[in-house]
Amino acid sequence: MTEDRYEMFTERYAKGDMPWDSGITPPEIFDIIGESPPGTALDLGCGTGTVMRDLLRHGWQADGIDFVQVAVDLARAKLRDFAPDRHRLVCGDVTRLADLPELRPPYDLIIDIGCGHSIDKALNEAYAVGITEHLGSGGCFMLYASHPRPESTVGWTPLQVARLFQGKLELFWEQRSFDKGLDRPSSWYRLLKPV
Ligand SMILES: C[S@@+](CC[C@H](N)C(=O)[O-])C[C@H]1O[C@@H](n2cnc3c(N)ncnc32)[C@H](O)[C@@H]1O
Repeated sequence: MTEDRYEMFTERYAKGDMPWDSGITPPEIFDIIGESPPGTALDLGCGTGTVMRDLLRHGWQADGIDFVQVAVDLARAKLRDFAPDRHRLVCGDVTRLADLPELRPPYDLIIDIGCGHSIDKALNEAYAVGITEHLGSGGCFMLYASHPRPESTVGWTPLQVARLFQGKLELFWEQRSFDKGLDRPSSWYRLLKPV
């Protein structure tokens, strides 16, 4: 984990400064929910659990990780009406999935909306290996990441995403978008684990 990112997110949750926390699951996630029979999902950087809640509503098992305890607590409150065996919330680091025994791999679907693109670049490989190891054969990794700006360390170009997962997952689909919060281009990606 990078301490400064951890401190920044912890402070923002403490202040209630979470503009990303719209309470709305993006349509790109509903597309994939609609296409696939319910299975098992893991949300990386799950925040307050909005996507987990919608996965659970559609019959999925949904686990989530966030490194900020306040986010995990807010997610736990949001999911309290669902059967406890259908979801697990873990306070941990997405670059160290192997250290989290509470997780239940292999997953059919792993989601990252706006988390991985801000990790320390030195941890990118550990992040990609962890996802690959936790995804089941034929499973899908759905990623939303902003594009980088010269003045910021946050973001991945589509080429960087392709290179990061080269030899691990197959880049199946990319769709350009725009991140209003960060005021910069972004992309959605679907990456598949070969059968
Ligand atoms: C921009 S927010 C997005 C939250 C959520 N995915 C959403 O769309 O509402 C990024 C989230 O990732 C979490 N995060 C960032 N780096 C992380 C890491 N290395 N391990 C675990 N969580 C992390 C932050 O605490 C934050 O909740």
